[in-house]
Amino acid sequence: MTIVVTGATGHLGRLAIESLLAKGVPAADIVGLGRQLDKIADLGITTKHVDYADVDALTAAFTGADKVLFISGSEPGKRVPQHTNIITAAKNAGVGLIVYTSIPRADTTDMKLAEEHLVTEQLLAESGLPHVLLRNGWYIENYSVEQALAHGLVGAAGEGQISAATRADFAEAAASVLVGEGHEGKVYELGGEPFTLTDLAAEISRQSGQEVAYTDLSPEKYTEVLVGVGVPAPFAEILADSDRAAAKGALFVPVTDLEALLGRPVTPLATAIAAAVK
Ligand SMILES: NC(=O)c1ccc[n+]([C@@H]2O[C@H](COP(=O)([O-])OP(=O)(O)OC[C@H]3O[C@@H](n4cnc5c(N)ncnc54)[C@H](OP(=O)(O)O)[C@@H]3O)[C@@H](O)[C@H]2O)c1
Repeated sequence: MTIVVTGATGHLGRLAIESLLAKGVPAADIVGLGRQLDKIADLGITTKHVDYADVDALTAAFTGADKVLFISGSEPGKRVPQHTNIITAAKNAGVGLIVYTSIPRADTTDMKLAEEHLVTEQLLAESGLPHVLLRNGWYIENYSVEQALAHGLVGAAGEGQISAATRADFAEAAASVLVGEGHEGKVYELGGEPFTLTDLAAEISRQSGQEVAYTDLSPEKYTEVLVGVGVPAPFAEILADSDRAAAKGALFVPVTDLEALLGRPVTPLATAIAAAVK
């Protein structure tokens, strides 16, 4: 069985491949796609250089794939054409199953970041390709402990519960779906143990011994702060909008689906923070 992973050179892709290998999938059965292939040269798998702009290269890379882990692209605003190419290529190649990394409640959330994910989910449905939706919640790693210790924690998520999980947990869940059976057509809403940004600041304070406060700003003010530290304005607006929605619960996800796919409890926030504090 051949499993192709897009975004293999990124953080989630590498972890998913490591998880597939740990589950006993032979390296010879895994193909990792990306541009900076030197990043995954150590994994021992087959690697192929593709850009999402190139449908022919994608089609060639997917040819012979039984399953594809379709990790969403990393450039908001460009993802609809990129994802359209990926789905077209998968169809051309006759891929057996596509496993797509989406966002919580992509079909009902008002989070701007979800718009391209929803279009992608619709394109997958229209393609007729067998697929699985992994609606991944926030990564705990989105929160930089180092930055919080240096400057405090700033956001616009109020006291919204955020069911973030480690990238490694999301990656392992994806690998479970890829090696498992009976997932076709399923939609998994995936999240870890919920916490507020006040809880996060308290946990960082507890573990570091340094008082870290959470400062809650309006989405407009938070956008300004992000732009002030060099985040491009369109992306800053998306991040602030995500916090706006998170304040209303858009990133709260029951832990049930993630724990079912993992077959174990999710990695607790305290464990993830401990790894970053040390
Ligand atoms: N749930 C969350 O909290 C969260 C947070 C951030 C992002 N995300 C989403 O989850 C995805 C995976 O997260 P991550 O942390 O692994 O992101 P990442 O480390 O930035 O990896 C992104 C991957 O996408 C590939 N890629 C981007 N544009 C491409 C293009 N035009 N052609 C070919 N490959 C391209 C990159 O390949 P090269 O580096 O080799 O070019 C890389 O392998 C992201 O892409 C994004 O959609 C989710």
